[in-house]
Amino acid sequence: MKNIAVIYHSGHGNTEHFARLVVTGAQSVDDTNVSLLKAEPLTGQPDRLIEFDGYVFGSPTYLGGVSGPFKSFMDATGGLWRKQQLKGKLAAGFTVSALPSGDKQSTLLSMFTFAMQHGLVWVGNPFLPEQSSGVPYEQAINRLGSWTGMMAQAGHSAPGQSYAPGDLRTAEAFGRNFASVLARVAVPAEEMV
Ligand SMILES: Cc1cc2nc3c(=O)[nH]c(=O)nc-3n(C[C@H](O)[C@H](O)[C@H](O)COP(=O)(O)O)c2cc1C
Repeated sequence: MKNIAVIYHSGHGNTEHFARLVVTGAQSVDDTNVSLLKAEPLTGQPDRLIEFDGYVFGSPTYLGGVSGPFKSFMDATGGLWRKQQLKGKLAAGFTVSALPSGDKQSTLLSMFTFAMQHGLVWVGNPFLPEQSSGVPYEQAINRLGSWTGMMAQAGHSAPGQSYAPGDLRTAEAFGRNFASVLARVAVPAEEMV
């Protein structure tokens, strides 16, 4: 059984909406347990991370980067970093923002760098944008063309707004891919160097 934590912050509920779809996708893979965790309480108990085999990080893009609460969570893992206690586990990231670009890439790169500093192994979002093969743009998986991690577009209003169906499909596919990769490559901790 593999244990995945989907760790997110969401100021207005949009990132949470996509986090739940990532969970649904990951849970569709056999022998996978998925926990949906808010970043804020984890900031006070970062050692909880040790119990998981893989992490999917989710943050809205605020002013071109991760949100303040998500950064606080990242910074709270300094003790784990010093002992490299997460080394060799898997990680991936996703972000939600209002504009088609909106500097979402910057948020994903921040998560990627964080993962690299912890010795985590990064898993991307390996889907060809489906609009290239004739699927209508709004419905296409990876319509925003992001391989570093998953991107979704959502406005400023609370959830319940209409998201692009393609982004909803991408979130599920991204979660399913992460769990599939984890199932294939996870190495028992005692075999790590
Ligand atoms: C302080 C703040 C900064 C934001 N900065 C950006 C930005 O840089 N790029 C962008 O496209 N959207 C930006 N947005 C819009 C949010 O990313 C968007 O509303 C998103 O859906 C919020 O996700 P949440 O509901 O999970 O908090 C910003 C919103 C706020 C509140």
